[in-house]
Amino acid sequence: MYGSDGINDDSERTAFRKTEKKYKLYYDSNSKSKSSKKKKQPRPVDLSEVIDFKSILESFARNGDLPAGISKLQYQFDKPVFCLDNCPGFYFIPAALSMEEQCRWIKESLVSFPQPPNRTNHHAFYGAIHNLFNAAKSKQVLVKEDITPGEDNSNALDVNYHNHRWASSEELDSYVNGNDFKPISAPVLLRKLRWSTLGLQFDWSKRSYNVSLPHNKIPDALRKLAKKMAAPAMAVGEEFQPEAAIVNYFGSGDMLGGHLDDMEADWSKPIVSMSLGCKAIFLLGGKSRNDEPLAMFLRSGDIVLMSGEARERFHGVPRIFTDVENAEIVSLEKQFSNEDDIDYLEYIRTSRININIRQVF
Ligand code: SIN
Repeated sequence: MYGSDGINDDSERTAFRKTEKKYKLYYDSNSKSKSSKKKKQPRPVDLSEVIDFKSILESFARNGDLPAGISKLQYQFDKPVFCLDNCPGFYFIPAALSMEEQCRWIKESLVSFPQPPNRTNHHAFYGAIHNLFNAAKSKQVLVKEDITPGEDNSNALDVNYHNHRWASSEELDSYVNGNDFKPISAPVLLRKLRWSTLGLQFDWSKRSYNVSLPHNKIPDALRKLAKKMAAPAMAVGEEFQPEAAIVNYFGSGDMLGGHLDDMEADWSKPIVSMSLGCKAIFLLGGKSRNDEPLAMFLRSGDIVLMSGEARERFHGVPRIFTDVENAEIVSLEKQFSNEDDIDYLEYIRTSRININIRQVF
């Protein structure tokens, strides 16, 4: 599902695929020329058909107006919850998270969520990696450590499983010699972080939850937030049980191809999906990839709920915007303007994070 062009099935001609291609980031071919000194320019995209819940919210707050096909859920909630009339089970809560909450979950997504026993996309290749964000901050390098049998290698913060450890760049030379593992810098690994999983761990190779994998419970504050946000999509008297979450990390040019989230037992329960960082386009399709999807903007702080019938619909993220006019993260940048937050600022101004929280059983 991931990558700079994450579609690998034979669906080139489906309506979903066509819409993905319409919005995906492409560069104008003549601006890529090596001889040209010009910065490569993204191909312009017509965004006129993209549903914009921020302006919908603003006009609703001004005069109660809503566009055809969109209504406000009659539900007592501290933010307006919008629904699409022809898509039962889909809910959009614009600006649901305060700036403080956004900053908190961005920090957690970078610092604590990728920590073992949570798995990340790096796990398959490197095993568990500890302290990636801090290692990236101090420009460390992942090297392979030769462990002599019987030697005490229990310095758990330093030594990762699979005998990798962080080294400073000054230390690097002594590790390179005679070692077939090519050292890799922590900033590169951070940029290549695509997902981490919280709570019950997902086994991507089997596309199923593997309850026997070591895991920690989803942190209480995130569970509490997810329960609150899920409430508009829950049956009366029921409470959402957050058991697993996937955190997706997007850099410029990354996309999440059209897919269904179908590994949970009870689809009547919502997936609670939080957007953080740069603005993105979300596609909500139908039950077949041949159904033409609707496109909508997702901004930092927005929450989407997909439950019931909506869970049978293909969806994906063909584009994130990292350019100044479209990313819309000026307010977030201000929050991270403190010197101590410079590394978060640098990351988030060209990235998007999505945390989607699920009830598995
Ligand atoms: C997903 O569909 O799994 C994530 C959607 C998003 O990134 O907003």
